[in-house]
Amino acid sequence: MCGIIGYTGPLSARKILLEGLSQLEYRGYDSAGIACVEDGAAVRVTKTTGKVAELKKLCQNDREETHCGIGHTRWATHGGVTRENAHPHQAGRVTLIHNGIIENYHQLTKEYHLEGKLVSQTDSEVAAWVLDSLYDGDPKAAIRRFVEKLEGSYGFCILFADRPGEIYAIRRVSPLVAAYTRAGSIIASDLTALIPYTKKYMVVPEDQIVKLTPYQVRVFDLDGRETQPEILEVNWDTDAAMKNGFPHFMLKEIHEQPEALKNTILPRISKGMPDFSDDGIPDEVFKQCSQVHIVACGTAMHAGMVARALMEPLLRVPVSVSIASEFRYEDPLIDEKTLTIIISQSGETIDTLAAMRLAKEAGSKTLAVVNVKGSTIARESDFVLYTHAGPEIAVASTKAYSVQLAALYLIICRMAYVRGKMSGEESAAFVKDLLDVIPAMEAMIRRKEEIRQMVRPLVEKPDAFFIGRNLDYAFSLEGALKLKEISYIHADAYAAGELKHGTIALISDEVPVIAIATQERIFAKSISNVREVKARGAYVILITKESAQADENLADVHIHIPDVHDRFTVFPIAVVLQLIAYYASLLKGLDVDQPRNLAKSVTVE
Ligand code: G6P
Repeated sequence: MCGIIGYTGPLSARKILLEGLSQLEYRGYDSAGIACVEDGAAVRVTKTTGKVAELKKLCQNDREETHCGIGHTRWATHGGVTRENAHPHQAGRVTLIHNGIIENYHQLTKEYHLEGKLVSQTDSEVAAWVLDSLYDGDPKAAIRRFVEKLEGSYGFCILFADRPGEIYAIRRVSPLVAAYTRAGSIIASDLTALIPYTKKYMVVPEDQIVKLTPYQVRVFDLDGRETQPEILEVNWDTDAAMKNGFPHFMLKEIHEQPEALKNTILPRISKGMPDFSDDGIPDEVFKQCSQVHIVACGTAMHAGMVARALMEPLLRVPVSVSIASEFRYEDPLIDEKTLTIIISQSGETIDTLAAMRLAKEAGSKTLAVVNVKGSTIARESDFVLYTHAGPEIAVASTKAYSVQLAALYLIICRMAYVRGKMSGEESAAFVKDLLDVIPAMEAMIRRKEEIRQMVRPLVEKPDAFFIGRNLDYAFSLEGALKLKEISYIHADAYAAGELKHGTIALISDEVPVIAIATQERIFAKSISNVREVKARGAYVILITKESAQADENLADVHIHIPDVHDRFTVFPIAVVLQLIAYYASLLKGLDVDQPRNLAKSVTVE
């Protein structure tokens, strides 16, 4: 969850670290710090609570030249948000930054008699002291003994006081990418910090030691043998990670959705049909499975809910959706005929990764829908379908959700075709309907001002409910998540028919209800539920298709989305729900892109 960066080379390390931390801040923003090798060898740590901007203020008068250093943005796990708990941590000759959790830090504290030495409450400082006590002048040997002692997940970048100009790194689970560039050597938890300098990078292999010097990046296995990790190339540039005139990344990313959808769908269409030959996914994967598990977290899980609502009725095979952190403890039924679809924007979410490993061990084939190329989930999955959203920086996911849906719709179509549930003609019509959502999304984006006006009454209220049936219920879940995560309005989604079994007790004129009714076959029933909440005084925002016949006095606000096929309404609906959340956050004066307590990439359990 934390952001990590390290640099050694001819340029100003301080400048590169601070800029890199700004790029990485979406990974965590409780506190930030850097450690720079100054004056030949002294390692100077500057750290503070708050955002990277606070750290930049602290550093603005630092004139000392520095060409080697490490930096960190924190998302607190062990220990509160204090300066002491911020990284880097120093212990004797060791200065380090850490992303992950050292589970046995308590035993290590006892084993190494650290009680009196620790100045923070973090597991990371314990790790620093353990490494210092194992260090006898040979960094690789010390790191090898160090990781033997650790239980948990980690990405470490380490400076040794007697090795100026060198950075060492090692990871287990937590991500790290590295590159040697003309500007020096650089390592980071995330590509966004690397792309200003290079498009070529390596994913640091797990349990291998990386040594960065100003002239090269070398990698060694734990037996000391040098290895040559594959060099990958990223296909987006710095512009993709900038706001480009938009006030927030979230608004920019909402606008990028139509293009991202084209990038994800079009290369996979051949003769009007979805075709995964270039992705290396054979039809047997779809033909042979007798059940499907979909596993993901957060927004990605909500994309899975939409897919399930379409998939099971169409394919007539059991399809389940699980929250990744629960999946492992559900003792799920898995066999060789199970297909597990893993959805993850980052490809690093630890619970999703653990769930995927469990499914694989139990014999399931795994197909990952992932945005970040070369991420752990992408590398470990049997098959990968990359979404091409480009970097998503706002913590609240928008374009990643729509491209995940697009990829899932393609899977559903191919699967139905190869299983004989849809003819060639029906599949081609499905693809055509899918492409029609692109202008529909563009139309909704153009209407953002209308949505901004409509949101005003919402922001004065502490609660909101989203209701819908079937597919509309699956969309509601994402609408409620978006609203609560960035506007802090308590929001919940309910299956509209379930409302009377308890929740309607909470409806009053103080409670806005956002009702989604886009499915023709259950439209009348959804509208009855809208009447029920209206009768209890709710302020109702109703979202239907253009052609839907609804009494004009039924809702306080009625938003019409273009008339796309019922199966595909999620795409324009997603834009409306994202804009509702965006403007609610904006009108409340909150930090849209970096809401409190959250982080973009959740790499701790
Ligand atoms: C975090 C993010 C969400 C995201 C979820 C799953 O909670 O804030 O936006 O949906 O993690 O992340 P993933 O990278 O696995 O899609």
